[in-house]
Amino acid sequence: MKQICLILLALTLLLSCDKKEAVPVKNEKKSEFVMYEMSEMAALMEQMYVENAKLRNRIIAGDTLGGYPDFYLKIKTSKMTDIQDNDQFFKDHSQKFLEAQELIYRDKDQAKERFNASVDACIKCHEVKCGGPITRIKKLYIP
Ligand code: HEC
Repeated sequence: MKQICLILLALTLLLSCDKKEAVPVKNEKKSEFVMYEMSEMAALMEQMYVENAKLRNRIIAGDTLGGYPDFYLKIKTSKMTDIQDNDQFFKDHSQKFLEAQELIYRDKDQAKERFNASVDACIKCHEVKCGGPITRIKKLYIP
């Protein structure tokens, strides 16, 4: 458990948006507290990242794509670290992102192009809202 917390802490510090302040850890018990510092939205984003990495592997391997993951819709309601980020720009871009994701699952033959277009949609929002994870998101592109 302790190790998991430390890994999560390291992830949170490394990967979160630049503007988010790091929470100093004074003792081991506090590291559990840090786990809860990740907002609902940040946790959703991490899940989306994992799901997209899996989908990427399936596309590269030519496997079946599976179904569109409904949990992405939580992007509309999840609480963010900074409530002010939930503005019109965010709403417009989350809608575009959901549409781009949905398209991928419709046609296996175009999955690669549409997957990359969906990664573009992640990055378009991140350029404005959350610069920190962009380098990591770019690794999702299928060459
Ligand atoms: C409509 C805007 C938007 C889209 C689209 C979007 N993100 Fe995010 N992302 C955000 C915001 C805002 C945060 C900060 C959330 C917070 O701290 O509460 C974030 C945070 C993250 C984080 C950091 C989470 C953490 O550990 O703190 C990752 C990683 C991430 N997004 C990956 C992705 C990936 C991958 C995609 C596409 C599959 C994506 N995002 C699409 C706005 C977006």
